Amino acid sequence: MAVIIDGKKSAAKVTDAVGEAAAVLEREAGIKPGLAVVIVGNDPASHAYVGAKSRMAKQCGFHSMQYTLPEATTQDELESLVEKLNADPAVHGILVQLPLPRHLNSEPVIQSIRPEKDVDGLNVVNAGKVASGDLASGLVSCTPAGAMLLLRNQLGADLSGMNAVVIGRSNLFGKPMALLLLAANATVTMAHSRTKDLPGICRQADILVAAVGRAQMVRKDWVKPGAVVIDVGINRVDAPEKGEGATRLVGDVAFDECADIASAITPVPGGVGPMTIAMLMANTVVAAYRSVG
Ligand code: GUN
Repeated sequence: MAVIIDGKKSAAKVTDAVGEAAAVLEREAGIKPGLAVVIVGNDPASHAYVGAKSRMAKQCGFHSMQYTLPEATTQDELESLVEKLNADPAVHGILVQLPLPRHLNSEPVIQSIRPEKDVDGLNVVNAGKVASGDLASGLVSCTPAGAMLLLRNQLGADLSGMNAVVIGRSNLFGKPMALLLLAANATVTMAHSRTKDLPGICRQADILVAAVGRAQMVRKDWVKPGAVVIDVGINRVDAPEKGEGATRLVGDVAFDECADIASAITPVPGGVGPMTIAMLMANTVVAAYRSVG
């Protein structure tokens, strides 16, 4: 049976350190880290994530600002808000929750966030730094940074000689995750919906990272014995065993059966999810420190 990687515990260590760093910055420089989270529309899952981010920002001692915009918000209105937040010295981090409603184009919005305030690490400046191997001077996307921290706790900093397979190629996760694994000297394969023999490719992975958005897609015969499995999926499925109409969260990995094969595995919930929020706090406090002088 695999070690079950405790993302909540690792996240709490990060947020404790962030809270201490924030207190020092406020005491020594009179600066309270400010995080502005913007959400457009009524998607319940997005509201739940944003609520968790805002609450954690408060817990870390930040100035936490949440902008809840109606579904009918226009592209111009959203971009004007980002401009206002870009210009506000009390705001050190800006996060626009994705996905946006279908009538809005997320790319120009994300690219209009000043790179120094882009705590999601999605601006081309920050994404480009990660791609060119500079992991220090910009801001790294939160979910891959959090997944890497969990991997390093399990395997150490250097992943030389390990085969890593990332399923999913999004800008938000798959691409930066693959680049961070590469920077740690892993041999990396990026797999996706057009990959041939996905189970066979996955079976070669010492590190298997799933971010496809399909409930329990990764089965036990996809997992190499002893592999470390990182599940980035968050999918809501029916749970008739909990009563009529009840639901529960599951990952992209069939947890119970894969836990019999892997050496370590992240659960959903309680694995990568809490790390995303913790790394967002870490990015925000870093952005606030860099704003000094
Ligand atoms: N939606 C799901 N995950 C994320 C994230 O990390 N950042 C943003 N902005 N939106 C998301």
